[in-house]
Amino acid sequence: MSTLEGKIIVITGGGGSIGEATARLAHAQGASVVITDREAGPVEDIAASLRDRAVGLAVDVTRREDNERMVATALEQFGRLDAVFLNAGIEGEVGPFDSRSDAAWEKVFAVNVHGVRFGVEAALPALREAGGGSIVMTSSVAGVRGAAGLSPYVSSKHALVGMMRCLAAELGPEGIRVNTLNPGPVDNRMMRSIEDQSNPGHGEEVHDAFAARIPLGRYVTNDECAAMAVFLFSDASSGCNGNTYMVDGGYCAQ
Ligand SMILES: NC(=O)c1ccc[n+]([C@@H]2O[C@H](COP(=O)([O-])OP(=O)(O)OC[C@H]3O[C@@H](n4cnc5c(N)ncnc54)[C@H](O)[C@@H]3O)[C@@H](O)[C@H]2O)c1
Repeated sequence: MSTLEGKIIVITGGGGSIGEATARLAHAQGASVVITDREAGPVEDIAASLRDRAVGLAVDVTRREDNERMVATALEQFGRLDAVFLNAGIEGEVGPFDSRSDAAWEKVFAVNVHGVRFGVEAALPALREAGGGSIVMTSSVAGVRGAAGLSPYVSSKHALVGMMRCLAAELGPEGIRVNTLNPGPVDNRMMRSIEDQSNPGHGEEVHDAFAARIPLGRYVTNDECAAMAVFLFSDASSGCNGNTYMVDGGYCAQ
């Protein structure tokens, strides 16, 4: 039997790099998936390529009603909800702390923190109805370490770790497990953006400097992040609650 046979999972940021890899792996492991992102087109295409047990849906995580519609869709299409992957996030602008505008801070927090809060609030009634479940939030190494030039992003990812710990304590007695996935630098669009913003025209140098600080000597991959997310959705992680699950090649070990 596959790891996620019969499980119903909703995914935010499912049109992005880690989200799509996770949707595909969860589906391959037997799950039914509601794949959501800001725009319908890319997630509908991913769902269509999976053929069965998959729905694509436009969801802006900053809108409470969109999160509620996401959960309602899982219930309508598949009858229950077992796990949520609150993964949508933005890197925001890179720059010194005192050069960030109020709007820049608010935009990052609206998606990375309040978007996750709305997702939890929307999912809770359905997870309670199912008798338990798994909530996985995508934080980051930026949720446990600082980084010069990334204040709003780092602050938002630390906030998720705090939210996760409170929820794990509150919901554990109901059989709802809450954990964070904490990737290190991933070989994908978001890191290209951070590299290019950090040193315009010389992003490759920033890439090499980051990679040199990782004991494995390289960025991790979307698939390596997806593997951890799928483990946290599954019953194989039934004892895991209230923790940060690093997929960082050893970045935080030193
Ligand atoms: N790429 C990395 O190196 C890295 C490292 C650590 C953590 N993360 C985190 O992983 C998660 C996934 O990022 P990724 O690397 O796949 O990058 P990505 O940019 O490919 O994916 C992020 C997705 O979130 C979506 N999104 C943004 N705002 C949204 C909104 N308001 N409503 C709905 N969807 C929205 C985007 O459209 C995009 O598809 C993010 O939370 C990110 O912060 C990424």
